[in-house]
This record gives sequence, C-alpha cells and structure tokens, in this order.
Amino acid sequence: PKGNGWRVKHLYNYNGFWLNPIYIKANLLLHAYFKSHPTDIFLASFMKSGTTWLKALMISTINRHRYNFCDHHLHHHGPQTTFSFLESELHSYPITDFTNMSAPRLFATHFPRTLLPSSVTSCKFIYICRDPKDVLISKWFFMNKIRDKDLPPLSFAEAFELFCKGISDFGPFWEHVLSYRRASLDAPDKILFLKYEEVKEQPEVVVRKLAAFMGEPFTMEEDEERVAENIVNLCNFENLSNLEVNKKGVTKFGKLVVDNREFFRKGKIGDWKNYLTEEMKERIDGIIHEKLKGSGLTFGESA
Ligand code: A3P
Repeated sequence: PKGNGWRVKHLYNYNGFWLNPIYIKANLLLHAYFKSHPTDIFLASFMKSGTTWLKALMISTINRHRYNFCDHHLHHHGPQTTFSFLESELHSYPITDFTNMSAPRLFATHFPRTLLPSSVTSCKFIYICRDPKDVLISKWFFMNKIRDKDLPPLSFAEAFELFCKGISDFGPFWEHVLSYRRASLDAPDKILFLKYEEVKEQPEVVVRKLAAFMGEPFTMEEDEERVAENIVNLCNFENLSNLEVNKKGVTKFGKLVVDNREFFRKGKIGDWKNYLTEEMKERIDGIIHEKLKGSGLTFGESA
C-alpha cells in the first residue's frame, strides 16, 4: 500500500502490533539475517517519545573522553547518523553490513520487545517512554508533516480515535510500553527503563545512569558534575535543534526522506493541554490506567 500515514489501510496487525508493511519486512529480515554482538546497545522507544534526544545523550556520554565539547562530533554528524536505526537499515536483502561499526554498536528501534529475536534481547537496552497524551500530539504533528502530500492530512479527531483503539505505528502504545516494562522487571541489569519526563526533570541524574549502564561510569578523576552538566547542555532542545545538521540535514527511512528539523517541535511536557478536551483527556487516561494496571507504571499527573 502507498503512503506513510497511520491510517488503518497502511497498517497491518502483525503478531499483535500495528506495523507498516515496510517494517514487517524489516522485522522478517531482522530475524533472518541480523547478527547481534554482546556489546551492542539498543535504544528502544515508541515513536515520538524522545528518541532523538536520548540518542544525543547516549552518544555524548559514551564519547565524553574522546571529544572535547567545543568541537563535538554531534556538530558534524548529528544524532541521527552515529546510531543505526534498525528498521530503516533493514529494507532489502542483503541487509546493511554493520560489522565495521566500532563497539559498542548503537542501534535504535521502535520494535516492541516481543517482536525482537532472542539474540537481540540478550543485549543491553535503554527504553524511553513518555506520557501517551504528549506522544499522541507529537505524532499527529509529525505524521502530517511527513505524509505523502497527495494524501489529505489526518484530522486530530481521527488520530485520537485510532490511538485510543491502539491503532498506531508500532502500537498499541500500552502493549509497547508493557513489553519493555515486563522485561525490565525481569532483568533490570539488562534494561534501563526511562521516562521522557524524568529526563526533563533530572537530566544530570539520567546522564550518570546512562554512563554506568553503558559500562562507562564516571570515575573519581572526572569532574562528574561539570561533565554531566556539559552533556545535558549540549543536548538540550535549543542546542540540539540548532545544530546545522538538524536544521538542514535529512534522515532516510528506506525511500522516505525526513528533514531532521521535523524531529524537533516544542520539547515540552504537557503540550497535550493545548489540544485535548477534558473528555478526551479522561478517556485516554482511563484507557491507559486500565491497560497498565498492575505494572507499577503510570503517566501524567498521577505519575
Ligand atoms: P514534541 O513534538 O512534543 O515537541 P522522537 O525523537 O522519539 O521522534 O521524539 C520527538 C519529540 O522529542 C518531539 O516532541 C521533540 O520536540 C522532542 N525532543 C527532541 N529533542 C529534544 C530535546 N533535546 N529535549 C526535549 N525534547 C526533545
């Protein structure tokens, strides 16, 4: 099917998740041909949960001994390129040769945990999730920006209905989050589970967690406070969105070419308040509350 919208006709239910056919193919290629390495580190997320930001934080944290902060490699390559986005690399056979990436290889994916092969799930994972109300708003803007221009834009009412029914790329949202939540409770040393909101509120704490989790903990010799602060500043919304590569560069997802600037909109918590009616808020909160019951996970004001 044509198009990259999130209309039902572009998505297929594949083992319980709604995927665009290009990602179903990518998933099959992943299972058949991808060879993971024990040192690989994966960043997993539902779309629009802060993936781009986390990528930049991870790259900056892991490379902090190698680059000085005035001439940081983010300026040259951008957060999109140092990572390999699994599903966009796996679009045809033979698959991209990842063997010349230096260790640890960094991969990003939107696949839910249960759609990953066990060789991959034995690697370290960082998962970032976000209040679904903000995810919905962010995704609605994003999808309409990158849509096939011969398709009409998706109305917010339609987007809301689909999201509440769980019909969304890589969704249902709650199944995605739960797939990683469960795995992180089973193996906390293998999955670092983060929320966008906590990264916003305590970014330096998150940088320290990232450093330790990725096997590069801060040492006594480092000026930990200053270095963590530098990383946070380098990757803040203002700085990241103003990098040349993010103002002018593009990211390719198979044939789809997306301007990097589309990955930056507002970068705020609670923008949903400008779009959802009280009734819509109640409905989505009710669904999420019900679906996440017993997981210990909450979003929004009750979090
Ligand atoms: P908004 O549309 O709410 O602004 P992803 O990278 O997973 O596609 O997520 C994109 C969302 O993260 C967008 O949210 C974007 O603005 C926000 N974002 C990008 N960089 C950010 C940063 N440095 N700090 C906070 N939010 C950021």
